[in-house]
Amino acid sequence: MRGPRLPSQLGRYPTTRLRRLRRDDWSRRMVAENEIGVSDLIWPIFVQEGKNKRSPVASMPGVHRLSTDQLGKTAAMAVSLGIPAIALFPVVENDLKTEDGTEAINPKNLVCRAIREIAQEKLNIGIICDVALDPFTTHGHDGVIRKGYVENDETLKILVQQALVQASAGCSVIAPSDMMDGRVGAIRAALDNDGFDDVRILSYAAKYASAFYGPFRDAIGSAPNIGTGDKRTYQIDPANSDEALREVSLDINEGADMVMVKPGLPYLDIIYRVKETFGLPTFAYQVSGEYAMIAGAIQQGWLDDKGAIMESLKSFKRAGANGILTYFSPQVARWLQKEGK
Ligand code: PBG
Repeated sequence: MRGPRLPSQLGRYPTTRLRRLRRDDWSRRMVAENEIGVSDLIWPIFVQEGKNKRSPVASMPGVHRLSTDQLGKTAAMAVSLGIPAIALFPVVENDLKTEDGTEAINPKNLVCRAIREIAQEKLNIGIICDVALDPFTTHGHDGVIRKGYVENDETLKILVQQALVQASAGCSVIAPSDMMDGRVGAIRAALDNDGFDDVRILSYAAKYASAFYGPFRDAIGSAPNIGTGDKRTYQIDPANSDEALREVSLDINEGADMVMVKPGLPYLDIIYRVKETFGLPTFAYQVSGEYAMIAGAIQQGWLDDKGAIMESLKSFKRAGANGILTYFSPQVARWLQKEGK
């Protein structure tokens, strides 16, 4: 974490030589201000129908969609690596998608079955689920469309039901990613009313209308339905930062336990401001497009894998994040385990 601000003119060469502390490995480690530990990692996983299936995502080298029967052992593997939480994203079959995304509130839908599959293992791991309609709608938007516009208050009613079916299935953290106004408050009230007062809310509070979600939409199969940047009527304009703070303050007032900034690397300033201003648990999402950039360059032999990945993760900690949602989680956890961290 960041320390107090020091006047930059304290000390003078040659009495002060900053290279002294950089000279040896032990002293570099001794003065390191941030480090990545396995508890900083949240692993997003794509879930699909079928048996014994592991299908690669073309635009995310190294990432696979897993069928639900693979989830028990995958979650157990995450636990053995020390990863504290996973985030599930369903790949919904096309014939189940509708204009209103009502499959989202089916208690037996893919994501609910996936949650149950993991929850029944009674593992020491958090299960995080998105609340948003995009995997379930034919048009790929996060809400219902009326007269060409994503309708806020009507969407809220469905999102609340979606949160409740997920909580009933055993989801431990509800993560509203839809960016409708008032969703956190509506979901908190409904959860409390139904006896789910211990279910946490991790709000995608500052979620930008980003071009970096492309590979994700490819992975869950909503890409053909929506163009880049089309969510500008509800996600934040990348030009803005004060607006992100307003979003976070509203979500805190509505009962968010934790907040997220998304994407990650292009928005380090937002993570910093959110943490400085509110001081609550703040997470960064290193999204699919960021993963694709780094993993793609590694695949080409243009970047060193461990160096590039760890440096990108450290930047989030330096900015003030408490943890990172990253598709690199299992790989990073394995490196940390090898180093005995
Ligand atoms: C759905 C959702 C998106 C992501 C997470 N939840 C895509 C979007 O808003 O279009 C993106 C994650 C990623 O790119 O890795 N609301």
